[in-house]
Amino acid sequence: MVRIKYLGHSAFYIEGKGIKALIDPFLTGNPSACCGTEDFNVLNFIFVTHGHGDHIGDTPYLAKKTGATIVANYELCHLFQKDELVCHPMHLGGTFSFPFGRVKMTPAIHGSDVEVEGKLMPGGNPGGFLLEVDGKKIYHAGDTGLTYDMCLLEEDKVDVALIPIGGNFTMDIADAIRSVKMIKPAMVIPMHYNTFDIIKCNPEEFRKLAEEFSDIRILKPGEEVVV
Ligand code: NI
Ligand code: MN
Repeated sequence: MVRIKYLGHSAFYIEGKGIKALIDPFLTGNPSACCGTEDFNVLNFIFVTHGHGDHIGDTPYLAKKTGATIVANYELCHLFQKDELVCHPMHLGGTFSFPFGRVKMTPAIHGSDVEVEGKLMPGGNPGGFLLEVDGKKIYHAGDTGLTYDMCLLEEDKVDVALIPIGGNFTMDIADAIRSVKMIKPAMVIPMHYNTFDIIKCNPEEFRKLAEEFSDIRILKPGEEVVV
């Protein structure tokens, strides 16, 4: 059994056997966040899809506070390790068996530069994660445009796909529906929309057009599914 709680924007809390984790924990300064860093005292992993501030978010603070291992691309881990944070570097297409289950880093079509002291630094390539927890497969796409690579995920039989629908920086509703048709996940939770005006969209429109292909769950920040 896996709990998947939506925290707003692209941030999720994942809890299963051997794992209490955050993905892209942008809480401080996130107008859609349901909670803050004070709500997380016990974590063993933090997954970061790419270097943008709305995804790294509170990662350094929470990693320091909880001792959680940061899982991210090699280049971002290199930066985090300068702050003596515990990291597990991975890269696109790579799989590793953690004590709770396997994790694969998936490609994303996007950027990953990271702001350090007001300047943008190279942050490697952006990605997503395919997590196996308690026999369930959860795909967090990160920030990405539509890419034909998503067809490869069909074979993985994804149970829950977390995909961006807000457009401008990522897939919009039309492209997100095309991605659902490629990935064929049992369930979809849309993310990365309505946090800011520039990524405004109506998730009900997505549901209407995508529900013939998957079980679409529109979660308000703070709501969760258990699979
Ligand atoms: Ni981004
Ligand atoms: Mn983003």
